[in-house]
Amino acid sequence: MAKKFLFLLLLIFNNLFSQNQLPVIPYPTEVILNSGSFLINNKTVIEADANMFEAQYLQKSIKQKTGLDLKIVSQALNVPKISLIFDYDLPDHSGIKEPYQLTISNNAIVIKAEYNQGIFYGIQSLLQLFPSDKKNEISIPCLKINDNSKYKWRGMHLDCARHFFPKEFIKEYIDYLAMYKMNTFHWHLTDDQGWRIEIKKYPKLTEVGAWRNGSMIGHYTDQKFDDKRYGGFYTQDDIKEIVAYANQRHITIVPEIEMPGHAMAALAAYPEYSCTGGPFEVGKTWGVLDDVFCPKDETFTFLENILTEVIDLFPSKYIHIGGDESPKVRWKVCSNCQKRIKDENLKDEHELQSYFIQRIEKFVNKKGRKIIGWDEILEGGLAPNAAVMSWRGTEGGIAAAKQNHFVVMSPGSHCYFDHYQGEPKNEPIAFGGYTTLEKVYSFNPTPKELSSDEAKYILGAQANLWTEYIETPSHVEYMIFPRMLALSEVLWGTSIPEKYADFQNRVIQHFDIFEAKGINYSKSIFEITTKTSSSLNNNGILFELKSAINTKGIRYTTDGSEPNLNSKEYTSPLEITKSQTIKAALFENEKQKSATVEQKFYSSKTLGKKITLVNQPHENYSIGGAFTLVDGIIGNRSKFGRDWLGFSGKDLNATIDLGKLEDINKVMLSVLESRGSWIYYPKEIIIFVSNDGQEFENVTKHSLSEIQDVKGEVVLDVKGKKARYIKIIATNLGKIQDGNPGAGSDAWLFIDEIGVE
Ligand code: ACM
Ligand code: ZN
Repeated sequence: MAKKFLFLLLLIFNNLFSQNQLPVIPYPTEVILNSGSFLINNKTVIEADANMFEAQYLQKSIKQKTGLDLKIVSQALNVPKISLIFDYDLPDHSGIKEPYQLTISNNAIVIKAEYNQGIFYGIQSLLQLFPSDKKNEISIPCLKINDNSKYKWRGMHLDCARHFFPKEFIKEYIDYLAMYKMNTFHWHLTDDQGWRIEIKKYPKLTEVGAWRNGSMIGHYTDQKFDDKRYGGFYTQDDIKEIVAYANQRHITIVPEIEMPGHAMAALAAYPEYSCTGGPFEVGKTWGVLDDVFCPKDETFTFLENILTEVIDLFPSKYIHIGGDESPKVRWKVCSNCQKRIKDENLKDEHELQSYFIQRIEKFVNKKGRKIIGWDEILEGGLAPNAAVMSWRGTEGGIAAAKQNHFVVMSPGSHCYFDHYQGEPKNEPIAFGGYTTLEKVYSFNPTPKELSSDEAKYILGAQANLWTEYIETPSHVEYMIFPRMLALSEVLWGTSIPEKYADFQNRVIQHFDIFEAKGINYSKSIFEITTKTSSSLNNNGILFELKSAINTKGIRYTTDGSEPNLNSKEYTSPLEITKSQTIKAALFENEKQKSATVEQKFYSSKTLGKKITLVNQPHENYSIGGAFTLVDGIIGNRSKFGRDWLGFSGKDLNATIDLGKLEDINKVMLSVLESRGSWIYYPKEIIIFVSNDGQEFENVTKHSLSEIQDVKGEVVLDVKGKKARYIKIIATNLGKIQDGNPGAGSDAWLFIDEIGVE
C-alpha cells in the first residue's frame, strides 16, 4: 500500500515538475530544478521584519492555504525558514523594482530582491508551488528561480459604471491581479450609465449621476428594459482605502474620467455643461449617446475641478481621460462649439476634439501627471505628451509609437474579456466576439511593424472588462478567469504560443487554486471545440472535434440523438455533405466528462464551395475567413460571437464558384443588426451570376427596407438562372448617421451563411 502510494506520488511529482513545468503563472524567466525538497511545517518560521507588509501577506496566505500558522521572526538561526532578504544585485540594474530570486534548498527558502515589489512577486511564485489541499507538512522541491518582467504596464480594466461593484469586490479584484503579477488596475469610474466617484465640489455628480431609473435587460439587440432604480458610488474614503490596498499589493490604479463623450451621467447632474442645456437622464441604454461635454470655458473649469480631486486621490503617473466614441452631432450645430472652432482656427469638429484633449492635457501636466486616452485621441492631432490606449485594433498604437508616444495595447481581438471565451451558445450572454484562452495567449503586444526604437514606446497591454452584460462579482470572475492568466504570461514575457498545450496544463492546475478560493471561472477549455474546414474537393466540408484534456474518447451521433458510451468514436474529421446535426461529448472511464456539443449543418449548393472576397473582414470577426460563409453553420443571432464575418466600414463582395453550371432559384443570406454594437444592415444586397467568372449579369437586388422587413433573413428570388459563379455584394451602411449609436463612425456589416437553392 505504502509503496503504491509512493509510486503515485512520484508519478504526480514527475508530471508536475518535469520538463521545466513548474505550475507557476506567469512562468518565470529562469528556472533551475535541483534535487531534494524543503519541508514546511509548524516549526518553519518566516525570517523578516514583522512590520513588513509582504511578511504578513506571506504568513496569512500560508495560513489560508495550509492551516499552518508560521511565526515572523527578525532573525532565525538553525531553524527551517523562509527568509525575505533585501539584497539582490542584478548585473543590469536600472531602477526596475520587480526582479527577484527565489531559492528553495533543503534547509531554507530564500526570496531576495532589492525592492518590496520583487519580494512580493517572489512570494506569489512560492505560493503557487504549494499544493492546494490543507496539510500539516508540505514538501516543496529544491529549485532556483531568477525572474523579471518584460512589460511595464500589465493591466486589467474594470468598468464600474455600467454595473457597480462594491468596494469589497474591488479589493478582491486587486488581489486577483496581484496573484498573477499584474501591476495596473484601470478603473473605469464614469460613463453614460453612472458616475461612480464622489466629487466634493459637485455633489450632484453622485446624488443624481450615480443612479439610473432602469437598465437594459438581455442583449442590446432585444431592446428590453426594466424600470428598477440602479446605482452606487465610491466615497472618497472608499477610494483612499482601495488605493492604499492596491499600493500594498504593488498595483497602480489608473482612474478613468470619460470626456468629452460617455458623459451622460455627469450631464444629467449638470446639464449646463452640454451643448443643448438638457434636461437629461442617466443612461439606461448601452451604446454611444449623442450628448457630450460642450467645450466652453465653464466646462473646462468644471472638469479641471473634478480632475483636481481625482489627482489628489490617485497617485498614478497617468490619468485616463477617455476620449473614445464621442459623437460630433451636437458640436456641429452648437454656437459655442462653432465659435470655438473659429476662434481657435480649427478645421472641424475632430480638431475641436483634439483641442479639448490638449487643453485637458495642459492642466493635468501642470499637476505633474500625464494623460492616457483611447486611440480616438489620435484624431485631429495627438496631445503632445499623451499616451494612447489602442483598442480598435493595434493600428492606433502603431501610429502613436511611430510618433514617439507611449502606448498600451488593448485590441478587441485579443484583450476584450467581455467577448465570449467558449462556444457562445454554451456561455452566458456576452457583448459578442470570440476571444478564447488560446487567442489571448497568442497575443504579441509589440507589433512587427515597429522598429526596435519605436517598440520601446509599447508600455505593455491590458485586458478590458466592460460590464454591460456583467452584473455580479461572480460573473466578473468568470470572464477574467482563466484568460487573465494568459495575458499575465504574455506581459511577463514568457509566453510561447507554440507551447500553448504546456500553458494549458498549468492553467488546469490553477483551477484547484480557484476552487479552494471559491473563485468562479470558465471551464470552456474542457468543452469540445469544433472547427470546420473545406474538404479537398470543395464538395462538402470537414468538421473537426477536439478536446483539450484528451485526444481520445470523443463519441458522436449524426442523427440528432444524445451521444453515449455506445456511440461512434471520433477518430478523424467528419465529412459533412448534407443537412444534419452532429452531437458529441467526451467519455472517460465509462463516464461523460464534457458537456454535449451540438452542431446543426445546413446544406445547399454552396456548401464547402470555393469562395473569394474582395474586402477582408476585420480581425476581430474573421475566424474561419471567407469559408465561414459557406461552412453550413448559420450564425447565432443573439450570441454573435463566432460564425459571422464582420466588416468595418467595408462592403461584402464575395464570389462563390459552384464548381459547375447549376440551376439557381434562390439565394439566401443572413445579415445582422445590433445597433448598440454599431452593427447595421447593409444599404443594399445585389446578386450577380456568371458562367465564366468574368462577365457577371446583375440578376436581382434587395433594398434596405426589404432587408428590414425580413429582419435580416434575406431570400432573393433568382428565378431559374443557370450559372456557375455567383457574386454577392452587400453595401456597408458607411458612416453611421447622426442620432444613431456610433454616429460618425464606420458601421459594421455582419454576414453569415450564403445559401443557394
Ligand atoms: C471602448 O471600448 N469604447 C474603449
Ligand atoms: Zn457645444
